[in-house]
Amino acid sequence: SGRQGAPVPGTDFDPVAPNTADAVVIPEGYEQRVLIRWGDPVVPGAPEFDFHNQSAAAQAKQFGYNNDFVGLIPQDGSGKRNFLVVNHEYTTEVDMFPAGTYDPENPTEEQVRIAWAAHGLSVVQAERERSGGLKVVPSRYNRRITMDTEFEVRGPAAGSKYLKTSADPSGRVVRGTQNNCAGGVTPWGTVLSGEENFNQYFANAETVTDPVQAERLARYGISGGASTRKWERFDKRWDIAQEPNEVHRFGWVVEIDPNDPDSRPIKHTALGRFKHEAANVKIAKDGRVVVYSGDDERFDYIYKFVSNGKYKPGKSAHARRHNMSLLDDGTLYVAKFTGDSPASEIDGSGALPSDGEFDGVGEWIPLASGNKSFVDGFTAEEVYVFTRLAADKVGATKMDRPEDIEPNPVNGRIYAALTNNSDRGASGKAGADEANPRNGNRNGHVLEWEEDGAGTRFVWRLLLVCGDPATADTYFGGFDKNAVSPISCPDNLAFDSYGNLWISTDGNALGSNDGLFSVPVDGPNRGQVKQFLTVPIGAEACGPVVTDDVVLVAVQHPGEGAGAANPESHWPDGGSANPRPAIVAVWKKGRIGVR
Ligand code: FEO
Ligand code: CA
Ligand code: CA
Ligand code: CA
Repeated sequence: SGRQGAPVPGTDFDPVAPNTADAVVIPEGYEQRVLIRWGDPVVPGAPEFDFHNQSAAAQAKQFGYNNDFVGLIPQDGSGKRNFLVVNHEYTTEVDMFPAGTYDPENPTEEQVRIAWAAHGLSVVQAERERSGGLKVVPSRYNRRITMDTEFEVRGPAAGSKYLKTSADPSGRVVRGTQNNCAGGVTPWGTVLSGEENFNQYFANAETVTDPVQAERLARYGISGGASTRKWERFDKRWDIAQEPNEVHRFGWVVEIDPNDPDSRPIKHTALGRFKHEAANVKIAKDGRVVVYSGDDERFDYIYKFVSNGKYKPGKSAHARRHNMSLLDDGTLYVAKFTGDSPASEIDGSGALPSDGEFDGVGEWIPLASGNKSFVDGFTAEEVYVFTRLAADKVGATKMDRPEDIEPNPVNGRIYAALTNNSDRGASGKAGADEANPRNGNRNGHVLEWEEDGAGTRFVWRLLLVCGDPATADTYFGGFDKNAVSPISCPDNLAFDSYGNLWISTDGNALGSNDGLFSVPVDGPNRGQVKQFLTVPIGAEACGPVVTDDVVLVAVQHPGEGAGAANPESHWPDGGSANPRPAIVAVWKKGRIGVR
């Protein structure tokens, strides 16, 4: 039962059925093309990819591994030429190097350097084709950002004693960015990218004896001896015993300006340090810039930053410089969600409370503003560098893995994907609350809230409680559950020009491949989830970009972990080829999602 409605523009296509195909499966009548794959040439002079003959020098000029976020930024009014900005979250060396050449216990220096070059971001130019879709073209804007690219540290923690290392006594210049996950395109035409699981790259935290330092490392998931990738053998900055502050130089939101290929990227400390997911901007009514970001860990938090200065419209170099500087001066907040139904009606099963909605009110709790801390026992610089521990002190709501957060350009509301949390309600862990209403949450949910942006109060409700619509513990915005696609583990979000939400998934717990889904958020079809595509075996669907004439999806980690000798996926090259993460464009004649 539930509402039904006529087809909604932007989502009017035949949904793709759940499957386990080693392919990108798209709706009838649509076309697809791989735009760019791991190893494809990016910068001038880059060699063609050769799986059996890789080098760090080549990789530093080629498209990196494990594409996640995708930003498509028009360079002109017509959208003919665009910047395609993509990040490369992480590497799985067992899949990257030819069978028998990679020993996880003893990687060669060249293999480690290849991995450094395979991280970071790529900027390429993409042109719209007359026949539909896009193609990547050679361009002076094409650029690779790797573990060797210099970043400028900005904002209130720049130069902090916690950021100084022997290689950088200023605490203001960091080499590289890693584990870049969800991101966002700013209204001024740059890209914000969140450094997520930076903890996994650092070795020898067990040598730390100072209890304060040990607690901080533990809260960020940094523990143990050798790191998985053994980078510490080739650069001491990955060894906490030798360089205790290098770890504080990751876990930030970084900003890349694709308009200037020589620009030095920025790490914005005012947005706090955690396992950042996304950083999406909304301009408040008073012109201040609001940035939303999630901390993707079980029981971690949702944050926002509000600038002191006001947005200058336009994409000129002058406006970009001004707007980028806004992110260095403002207030950092963390979210507290309060339900409006009696706690007795939130039993952890996912059953709706008697008012028919998981909903309530929320509050933004200030953590720090410039040099002023609002958290007892924390200086402002400690709030920025050890944000998780500061947020623990103020009663923020522990969420089910906050991932992408995105303002809807049509209705103005904010949407957050909460991927899952199988530990919710486990012994010693927080139990269900109205904003995270299922114990053992395997399939995740999607939250929406409404606020001006600059204020500290909001109202919220759940749009989706994901999973198999045939089970009672799911909710599809009140829409008829017999007429929706199953969806599990929402991860990245995008909006089409009609204001429909598009959701890509990571880790489908229902047994079929991940994919991309559309869902109207207003009107009679609110909650009508439809699957637009599925991604190949072992892959996560990332990135999504949805314009009126093309959909882009990042296919991340196809066949991951099977190893190069017996790959589980042969996508996209087919035959017996090893899999390669890649960006796919999908289009048809006429508008996406319109018959
Ligand atoms: Fe890299 Fe939270 O996904
Ligand atoms: Ca992700
Ligand atoms: Ca309620
Ligand atoms: Ca993910």
